[in-house]
Amino acid sequence: MKVDTTVRMGSLELRTPLLTGSGTFGYGDEFHTLVDYRALGGIVTKSISAHPRPGNPPPRICETPGGGIINSIGLANIGVDGFIADKVSALPIGETRVFISVVGDAVEEYVTVVEKLEQVDWVDGYELNLSCPNVKQGGLDIGGDWRAVAAIVREVRAATGRFLAVKLTPHQPRIAPVVEAAAGEGAEALTLTNTLVGMAVDVERRRPLLGAVTGGYSGPPLKPVALAMVWQAAQAVDVPIWASGGIVTGLDGVEFLLAGASGLQLGSVFFADTKAPGRILQEMCDYCERHGITRLADLTGKLEPL
Ligand SMILES: Cc1cc2nc3c(=O)[nH]c(=O)nc-3n(C[C@H](O)[C@H](O)[C@H](O)COP(=O)(O)O)c2cc1C
Repeated sequence: MKVDTTVRMGSLELRTPLLTGSGTFGYGDEFHTLVDYRALGGIVTKSISAHPRPGNPPPRICETPGGGIINSIGLANIGVDGFIADKVSALPIGETRVFISVVGDAVEEYVTVVEKLEQVDWVDGYELNLSCPNVKQGGLDIGGDWRAVAAIVREVRAATGRFLAVKLTPHQPRIAPVVEAAAGEGAEALTLTNTLVGMAVDVERRRPLLGAVTGGYSGPPLKPVALAMVWQAAQAVDVPIWASGGIVTGLDGVEFLLAGASGLQLGSVFFADTKAPGRILQEMCDYCERHGITRLADLTGKLEPL
């Protein structure tokens, strides 16, 4: 049985539901010899800001028991002008869809970055990384404040007609008001979720393992948190959801589809397995064959009551 892997997201069709998670696939220009792009519906680049950011002091990544990792990269990137000048020509344009992750300290920075990228032809869309401190509001996470989310999505929506995804933090007591605000202002996909804040300590040396002390916790331990957020968001809004959090196997992907996701982002898994997209896609197709399902997209939201 041939399983149809295509998924439709608003105005776009993706070859498969699999995408790369921002920051785990570099700028998208380094993986040509490692990754089979045919298994990917799209890539999301690392987050790009208006100006270069140096990021945090090293060490910036450590492992935790249970397959988790904590990173404190600190959104290091070469800035939008450097990205356009040095990275664009090496992106897998034509091989898969390309989404640029955009980050900022305030609404004006998001708009500046998007306006510059509007000059580049091949961009399929943007993912706004809203899991970052809002400098104008004393450093609170932008993505936890539905009014700030609404304002950013509204301003960016006015600056582009391209596909617009919004990526949110897991640090929020109630996801519904935030996803309703993003969807209401024109977000075409919601990415759930970014990393949790985490920390690890070297007890022998009595020192933190990361230069920045705390960082973003990701990998398999994040999956139950992300699953719950995907499910809650799918109950609240009728917008495609991109799941992000601990997807390592095809069955992880199926779990997220059943909970309501349409897209599946692969992140930490790349550190262990650069062949993950092809393997995970095959495992999901095997599941479909076992259950007589002909389209992967038919699994979305099909969680049965207990
Ligand atoms: C090393 C590293 C760097 C990351 N950088 C970014 C980033 O620049 N922007 C962003 O939105 N998310 C970033 N993330 C979060 C991932 O895109 C993803 O949402 C998160 O890791 C959860 O998925 P996973 O458990 O499959 O890794 C980063 C994650 C890691 C591990």
